Amino acid sequence: MVRKNKVLLVGDGAVGSSFAFSLLQNTDFLDELVIVDIKQDKIQGDALDLEDVTSMSSPVDVHAGTYDDASDADIAVITAGIPRKPGESRLDLVAKNEKILKSIVTPIVESGFNGIFVVSSNPVDILTTLTQRLSGFPREKVIGTGTSLDSARLHVVLAKACHVPVNQVNAYVLGEHGDTSFVNFDEALIDGKPLSDCLDLTDDVKADIETQVRKKGGKIIGLKGATFYGVARSLSQICKAILENQDTVMPVSAPINNHYGLSDELYIGTPAIINGSGIAGVIETALSHEEVAKMQHSATKMQEVLDNLAV
Ligand code: LAC
Repeated sequence: MVRKNKVLLVGDGAVGSSFAFSLLQNTDFLDELVIVDIKQDKIQGDALDLEDVTSMSSPVDVHAGTYDDASDADIAVITAGIPRKPGESRLDLVAKNEKILKSIVTPIVESGFNGIFVVSSNPVDILTTLTQRLSGFPREKVIGTGTSLDSARLHVVLAKACHVPVNQVNAYVLGEHGDTSFVNFDEALIDGKPLSDCLDLTDDVKADIETQVRKKGGKIIGLKGATFYGVARSLSQICKAILENQDTVMPVSAPINNHYGLSDELYIGTPAIINGSGIAGVIETALSHEEVAKMQHSATKMQEVLDNLAV
């Protein structure tokens, strides 16, 4: 029997449907895309709408389904959850989305699923940690979108500030995808050269860049009620790296194993290598003393939230 690459998407809201649209155009290594949501009309409609895309990209069997379809899937993408309202932090969502997550992970595991979980629901680092705990899966088989979106936003800010095309920027946002994220400025490169060659990196300049990146999600939500294209593309890049066994280095929510001096219970935003086996390795990027303290602060904030949860 020929092996088929299959992705199960759980959550067909704005993020989920934008992800499906992006994935169909982002890889030829996909044979089947199954969409699961409680809104039955929406998944039927989206499957019909998205199958039209396949005639113009690559042939994929797109259809509505159930959790049972996870049994032979390579990836289960979880975007379901209550999104942030204007003024809400990602951590405010934890109690609501923990329950939803449990109702998703349990039937997926019961189906016999043996693939890789990719999570984008917020607060993403916490929900990625909980997905691993609820599933009991090996830690490298669970990935969160983490600071991939924040890093993309950082690239946009730096490209504008340095007047270069965005693809000449190489820089990472680390830590929680949220209010305690931070940039490791010393490692940031513009066209292969240190960022400090193009910007005078005073404390004020750095703080301004970090604030622009951190506040961008909230700004978009204030303007149009939700953010979805950016995170949808992050999800599709992660799935592409898995399906194509790429060894791509991306900042994601990855399982910490004594990296950065942190305890090994958490998932947090750090560069990691992604391939067909999931997280093939965490890349511990060089941090200054001050940045190590920021990473630890970010981890402590998340640990406080996790300690108050039952799982
Ligand atoms: C954002 C959401 C996805 O930052 O958390 O846009």
